[in-house]
Parts: sequence; structure tokens; C-alpha cells
Amino acid sequence: MPRRGSGNQIRTDDSVRLELLSSGHARQLERFELNNRDFFASRIGDRGDDYFAHFDERLAELVEENRVGTSLLGVLVDPREEVVARVNITDIHQSDSTEIGSRVAKSVQGRGIARTGVRLALELAAAHGVRVVHARVAADNPASRRVLKVCGFEATGPAPSPDGSSRAFTGYVIRLGAETEMPRGEAKDHS
Ligand SMILES: CC(C)(COP(=O)(O)OP(=O)(O)OC[C@H]1O[C@@H](n2cnc3c(N)ncnc32)[C@H](O)[C@@H]1OP(=O)(O)O)[C@@H](O)C(=O)NCCC(=O)NCCS
Repeated sequence: MPRRGSGNQIRTDDSVRLELLSSGHARQLERFELNNRDFFASRIGDRGDDYFAHFDERLAELVEENRVGTSLLGVLVDPREEVVARVNITDIHQSDSTEIGSRVAKSVQGRGIARTGVRLALELAAAHGVRVVHARVAADNPASRRVLKVCGFEATGPAPSPDGSSRAFTGYVIRLGAETEMPRGEAKDHS
């Protein structure tokens, strides 16, 4: 069972801890993005040099989104205190436009980190009163589709491509109850 952290801001699992982004994550988060820049660029597109040139300003904007409660923007931290993944749920104040997204470090792919992170983020969202979460997945991203499916999302059909992408996307949705407990699935090896 995940354990609830103080102030509903933290969820933990055996392998990783979900924390809402804060300015204290700056250097770990920058390391995560830089170390995995080529990997993410090959899978979903590059953030661009400007993102890294203005990293701290961008982080401050995200921290503000968390503070005012329009988004739940999280990082997954491993026992060495390194950021190994990000999981974001944006626009939680507008149930039609909530959207979850995740990215996991190349070095820990396929170990259930995304599944765990999405599950923890959904539990946190439910605790914040969020009842509907949407997602979009590119047709050529089977790992992401699988993660959403095992976490309980249902496909809703073709969805608009995010800005800057020309790939075909499918929409997904999950409805959360007040006592949301996400499907655990079979045990994963997090070693
Ligand atoms: C998609 C992503 C987040 C998945 O992270 P992850 O930690 O490796 O995911 P998990 O280990 O929790 O689960 C991946 C699942 O996809 C499956 N999978 C992986 N590659 C697959 C493929 N080519 N075809 C079918 N299934 C595949 C895995 O077997 C696993 O399913 P299982 O648990 O039933 O065995 C990660 O690959 C990533 O960061 N990609 C780049 C960013 C991205 O695409 N983000 C999503 C945007 S919507």
C-alpha cells in the first residue's frame, strides 16, 4: 500500500517517492532533463535550447502552478534522491481539460516506474478532488498506451495532436472516485 505523506503532497511506493515540484528540485531536475535529453528528443521531441537556458525561470512558473492549485506537477525521486521521472497532471481546476503526462529516465525504462508514477499521481489527484483525467498518446508509443491501460484509462478515439507534433494521437480518460485505489497489476521488479 502506498503511504500518505504530509499535506497530501507526497505519495510513496517501495521504489520511488512522488513529490510535487519545488524550487529545491532544481538541480536534480535539470540533471534528469540534461542526461535524458537525447532519449526524450527521440521519443517525444526536444524541449529546445531555450528551455535549458531559462531552466530556473521555467521551474518557478511550474512551482507557482502547483502553489495556486491549477496543476499537480510531480517528480519521482529514487532512494538515492535522484529524479528518475516526471508525472504531471495539468489543468486540474477544469475537468474537461485535465491532462496527464509522464517521462522516465532512459536508465530505468521498463521497470514499472511510469506505472507507479501514474498510479501515485492519480491517487494524489483524487485526494485533491479531481474526478476526471485525460491523456493523449501518439500512435507509435505502445509503452505509454500500455501504462495508461494498466492504470485503468480507457481509449476515447482520435485526439488532437499537441502543439508542434504532426503524429496521430489517441485520447484516453479515467474517472476517479473519492476513494481511488488504482489497479496494482502484477508485482514488478524495481531492482
Ligand atoms: C512511456 C514511458 C513513460 C514508459 O515508462 P516506463 O517506466 O518504462 O513504463 P513501465 O515500465 O511502467 O511500463 C511500460 C509498459 O509498456 C510495455 N512496453 C514497453 N515497450 C513496448 C512496446 N514496444 N510494445 C508494447 N509494449 C511495450 C512494457 O512491457 C510495460 O508493460 P508491462 O508492465 O505490462 O510489462 C517511457 O518509455 C518514456 O519516458 N518515454 C518517453 C516519454 C513518453 O513517451 N512519455 C509519454 C507521453 S504520452
